[in-house]
Amino acid sequence: MSKVAVFGAGYVGLVTGACFADLGHEVVIADILPERIAALRAGEVPIYEPGLDVLLERNRERLSYTLDVAEAVSGAEFLYIAVGTPPTYSGDADLSAVWTVVDSLEGVAGRAVVVMKSTVPVGTGEKVRHRLDARGLEHVGYASNPEFTAEGTAVRDFQHPDRIVIGAFEDADAEAVAELHSGIEAPIVRADVASAEMIKLAANAALMTRISFINEIANVCEATGADVVSVAEGVGLDRRIGSSFLRAGIGYGGSCFPKDSLALKQLAANSGYHFQLLNAVIEVNELQKRRVIGKLQQHLGGLRGKTIALLGLAFKPHTDDVREAPSLVLAGRLVAEGAEVRAWDPVVHGADVLPQATILGSPLAALDGADAAVIVTEWPELADLDWARAADLMRNPLLIDGRNLLDPRALRAAGWTYDAIGRASA
Ligand SMILES: NC(=O)c1ccc[n+]([C@@H]2O[C@H](COP(=O)([O-])OP(=O)(O)OC[C@H]3O[C@@H](n4cnc5c(N)ncnc54)[C@H](O)[C@@H]3O)[C@@H](O)[C@H]2O)c1
Repeated sequence: MSKVAVFGAGYVGLVTGACFADLGHEVVIADILPERIAALRAGEVPIYEPGLDVLLERNRERLSYTLDVAEAVSGAEFLYIAVGTPPTYSGDADLSAVWTVVDSLEGVAGRAVVVMKSTVPVGTGEKVRHRLDARGLEHVGYASNPEFTAEGTAVRDFQHPDRIVIGAFEDADAEAVAELHSGIEAPIVRADVASAEMIKLAANAALMTRISFINEIANVCEATGADVVSVAEGVGLDRRIGSSFLRAGIGYGGSCFPKDSLALKQLAANSGYHFQLLNAVIEVNELQKRRVIGKLQQHLGGLRGKTIALLGLAFKPHTDDVREAPSLVLAGRLVAEGAEVRAWDPVVHGADVLPQATILGSPLAALDGADAAVIVTEWPELADLDWARAADLMRNPLLIDGRNLLDPRALRAAGWTYDAIGRASA
């Protein structure tokens, strides 16, 4: 069993640490936020990720938490970096937290391996290698081991991944990282460091491309009388295409896709290449988020003084993450149009998330007296709602189903004017 230090107690770092501990390794998780470390030490989980609480509790003996880099580094054979890499104003990834960790590594014993879990531009590993060498840490190894988990299913994704990607400068380091994953059944893709970094960015870009593709198909369906749900089913059953990421909606959000697409676009641009397709993917997504506003205007006329209920705030179900969520864009646009915004989400409660909106405790409370409702996140609670009762509560029972979650016929039978994405509007 190995000793693993994980820098960053966020979505990725906590899941990585908990899953390694579950494999039997001894794990210390380091962060710079005192309240986060105090909460973890007290047995509280600072984020909502299904199954994470159980895993942290089950492996309590093998997990510790610290604010002290030296304590994390002491005796560690693997130094995982899982800090945030948000976008800068230019769209490049902000690597300042990565550099803070790299520059704070002291007293690394033996051939510990620094492993990059954070999503970083191609070329970062090379730069980290130089920086380690310049700091007299030539004896320390380096590997890229990008993370492909999705929030909401991160624990399952880590434990049953489609593949484990490992890029290293030295074979022995790649083998050590592969060995660390013993117990997880998955193909291991060995690559050079730059290619491992690119695999992560390219995989995300491929998924976003599928989303923007099906959203454009949806928009053409709407204009021509076809139904994108049937179309996606018929297209997705083609084994050459597959059915995942063919669900039309109001666009992708979250802490990864938007920033990683910008980072790849910027990476290409910095290297003198105009990534035309990716630019279109990003633009289509931005326009898609705003289509709901057009639909509301079409049905209601002006939005000034109208009360609009947003159902779901998280960027997708089973997470409390609202970073780059379509709900934020929608709420901002609605307020700018003079509407009053109410919102409900089963796990996102804080008023600070959406100060322009009134956050209510149940879908029915959000719908009571509203002029229109928008399904922003496909939470299962919404599929199970009593929509006939909900229609009676509305001042005007108009529903824009931004995720094509519900059955149009059932909703119309329940008294709703129902509109969705890429489906006939009546
Ligand atoms: N969230 C995802 O679904 C996901 C999936 C795959 C890859 N990634 C990538 O993984 C990385 C982490 O993402 P996340 O969502 O976990 O971020 P996050 O914001 O949830 O967590 C980052 C954590 O790092 C901590 N941190 C910052 N500086 C630090 C330092 N110097 N030392 C120790 N800790 C420090 C922060 O306090 C925070 O707790 C990003 O590069 C992201 O792109 C994320």
